[in-house]
Amino acid sequence: MSSRHETPQRILIDTDPGVDDSMAILFAFNSPEVKVEGLTTVFGNGGTETTTANALRLVEMAGRTDVPVARGAEQPLLRPFTGEGWRVHGRNGLGEVELPAPQVEPERRRAAQFIVDTVMANPGEITLVPLGPLTNIALAVSLEPGIAEQVQEVVLMGGAANGRGNASAVAEANIRNDPEAAHVVFQAPWRVTMVGLDVTRKVIMTPEYVDALAASGNPFTTFIGKITQHYMDFYRTYVGLDGFHVHDSSAVAYVIDPTLFETVALPVDVEIHSPHNFGLTSTDWRKRPGREPNVNVCVEVDSERLLELYRRRLQGMETLATEAAS
Ligand code: BDR
Ligand code: CA
Repeated sequence: MSSRHETPQRILIDTDPGVDDSMAILFAFNSPEVKVEGLTTVFGNGGTETTTANALRLVEMAGRTDVPVARGAEQPLLRPFTGEGWRVHGRNGLGEVELPAPQVEPERRRAAQFIVDTVMANPGEITLVPLGPLTNIALAVSLEPGIAEQVQEVVLMGGAANGRGNASAVAEANIRNDPEAAHVVFQAPWRVTMVGLDVTRKVIMTPEYVDALAASGNPFTTFIGKITQHYMDFYRTYVGLDGFHVHDSSAVAYVIDPTLFETVALPVDVEIHSPHNFGLTSTDWRKRPGREPNVNVCVEVDSERLLELYRRRLQGMETLATEAAS
């Protein structure tokens, strides 16, 4: 158990699975430091229909149908969803790997309502872990502003404090996909930790790492070996990298063990007006008096230790796999 929490940290994962979302969810399912209270889905790496089906497939595959899946927003707050994520994650969001339709159904409530109900029923207990565009989180805090005081923390994958984007020259994909929602979330009075490209680009899973993981041969590592092939092809062709950056699993890693990261509290604003630069997380490093920090920004990461933690946890899924199969 991490030194941070005596008892598991209760988390809600808001997600757009997504190859790296899937890897992050399986990481969380097999980490005793966290207890996943639900998955809420959002558009991003695919439409919400696709990401919801994938979230349901994941809970089924992991033998965790006790974890509710609530379908969320179908589009950004103000803009059309242009949906380029399929280029990275494949048309089904899972690297074009053919998978059967899920048998389980989503939860009756929509994501924003589910988030509000879960947080308000468990004051001070829940950490929100958004791994996609922030639409559901912005809707939830607009529906019930009281959740800002009751949430323990928001640990999100998104943004780039150094202004080097991946979805545009300056913007990271999750923020770019709904900048107005990100603006609402960054301005709400809760603790926000940003696990952005500044650190996730420093954590790289190489083909050798993935092969070794897959070779351990449990259903989860085998699944990861398959879904990452399309993802790696994208990185090879468009990023010029043999391997891929570990985005969403880094946010889960922060919740499990924040000592993996160095953070700095800084003022961060989301650009929502510029026709070119919308989605930029404009970060003020000057530390001027009167300019209060609103975000805990991850600036460094112990990549080796994070990758080792991920490997151990996924290899440990052997036990879970045997239980699920029996
Ligand atoms: C983020 O965008 C999505 O493609 C990934 O799932 C991750 O959440 C990285 O910019
Ligand atoms: Ca994601």
